[in-house]
Amino acid sequence: MVIMSDAKMKSLRDRLAAVGQEHLLRFYGELDAAAQSHLLGQIEALDLDSLPGLIQTYVTGKPKVAVPDRIDPAPYFPVDPNSKRRPWDGVAMRAAGESLLAAGKVAAFTVAGGQGSRLGFEGPKGMFPAGAVTGKTLFQFFAESLRAAAKKYGAVVPWYIMTSPLNHEATVAYFESNGYLGLDRKNVMFFPQGVMPSFEMGTGKILLAGKGEIATNPDGHGGSLKALFTSGAIDDMRRRGVEHISYFQVDNPLVRVVDPVFLGLHAIAAESSGEMSSKMIPKTGPEEKLGVFCSVNGKIEIIEYSDLPRELAEQRLADGGLRFIAGSIAVHVMSVEFVARLNTDRAFSLPYHRAEKKIPHIDMGTGKLVQPEKNNGVKLERFVFDALPLCRRSIVYETSRAEEFAPIKNATGVDSVESSKAIQTERAARWLEAAGVKVPRRADGTAECVIELSPLTAMEAGDLAGKNLPREIGRGERVAL
Ligand code: UTP
Repeated sequence: MVIMSDAKMKSLRDRLAAVGQEHLLRFYGELDAAAQSHLLGQIEALDLDSLPGLIQTYVTGKPKVAVPDRIDPAPYFPVDPNSKRRPWDGVAMRAAGESLLAAGKVAAFTVAGGQGSRLGFEGPKGMFPAGAVTGKTLFQFFAESLRAAAKKYGAVVPWYIMTSPLNHEATVAYFESNGYLGLDRKNVMFFPQGVMPSFEMGTGKILLAGKGEIATNPDGHGGSLKALFTSGAIDDMRRRGVEHISYFQVDNPLVRVVDPVFLGLHAIAAESSGEMSSKMIPKTGPEEKLGVFCSVNGKIEIIEYSDLPRELAEQRLADGGLRFIAGSIAVHVMSVEFVARLNTDRAFSLPYHRAEKKIPHIDMGTGKLVQPEKNNGVKLERFVFDALPLCRRSIVYETSRAEEFAPIKNATGVDSVESSKAIQTERAARWLEAAGVKVPRRADGTAECVIELSPLTAMEAGDLAGKNLPREIGRGERVAL
């Protein structure tokens, strides 16, 4: 319990006043001892000295996005290794990735600390029912993939899950009450990410979520690069002999939790320093809201779709394709030692990004909770891809949208559970047809049925060979295999 003498209290009030945050103690006298202690603990965790600069740069001011003078499209390995554009040795890369997996040198890492506000789902997003037929959760999809990988490669792929202080307990409780989804609990590790205080827009004052509670938000997926280290996950990986981390977001049931070809490219391609690599899909058009892989001063960077100058975003090649075509799906591989170095060799210093949000808060005059109707606050987050330019040499690998990308971000429409289920069905239909199963199709070519394939049945199309499959799927049928 944090207890303070009167003198220490006065000194704290003075320090807060010096950085314009003395209001945080406005209701202190009304709190009981436990609540007082909690609030003091939260205040002590703030880096008061750096607050004024941070607020000036990101909250009361808006950082100008410095668009580099020269931006080129990032080079990438095409999905087809035999492509004339840039042929590469697909067999060797797969073999290299498979041997890393078989040697137990790969961990899976899910960032699951987001607030999922667009989806509007109560509870951790990983518990969202995503399966097209069974309604199995996102976490179940990943767990089944990891069980399948352990079987296929003959080695455990340990799973690290980053939560936030807001959803940590609920996430762990879900795994506890569901038998760790068939995994060995000693190979599943959870750790919460850090938080940032949330600020009032315009004034930069830290908001109170309650009279004794600072309003906070998770510090962004970029916070994972710090939390992996401070939580002890990196040490745990080193103890296990893990060298590479397969990073993915919580919202995509079709993600390849470990992809041997991508792992191989990351680890042994001559163009890669084996520090941090990325997957891309070709953007559907200049407007699609995916960050774009670019090359700036010889380094790979992701430029957010809203920051890429329009004339560049719209440039076309002679064949009509977009010049800046490589869209990020937030799938990376990074080496354990790269993450460690980000935390030791240099002060951990990824930039912040500001987002304007509706943040419920205590009114300083009335002491009542206000639910704002328009954006009143600013939250600051770090983005994982800001680590890319810190690599010596980073590579980008093209993958197929239809094979691996079915994110659930919104309640309806684009990137929703409906669109995800349709993509799940189409992928399963293609894989089954390739294995000789007859799938009913409508006049427009879409599958006239709903199919869900468990990763335990197939992680990739080739895994269906020799499996006991139905000869045909009936029109309108709902099938889980
Ligand atoms: P999103 O950008 O989709 O954000 O996160 P979100 O918070 O989940 O959803 P909205 O914007 O409120 O609707 C992309 C991935 O990064 C993780 C999310 O859990 C998701 O897997 N993430 C995001 C974190 O782990 N921590 C964060 O602070 C932010």
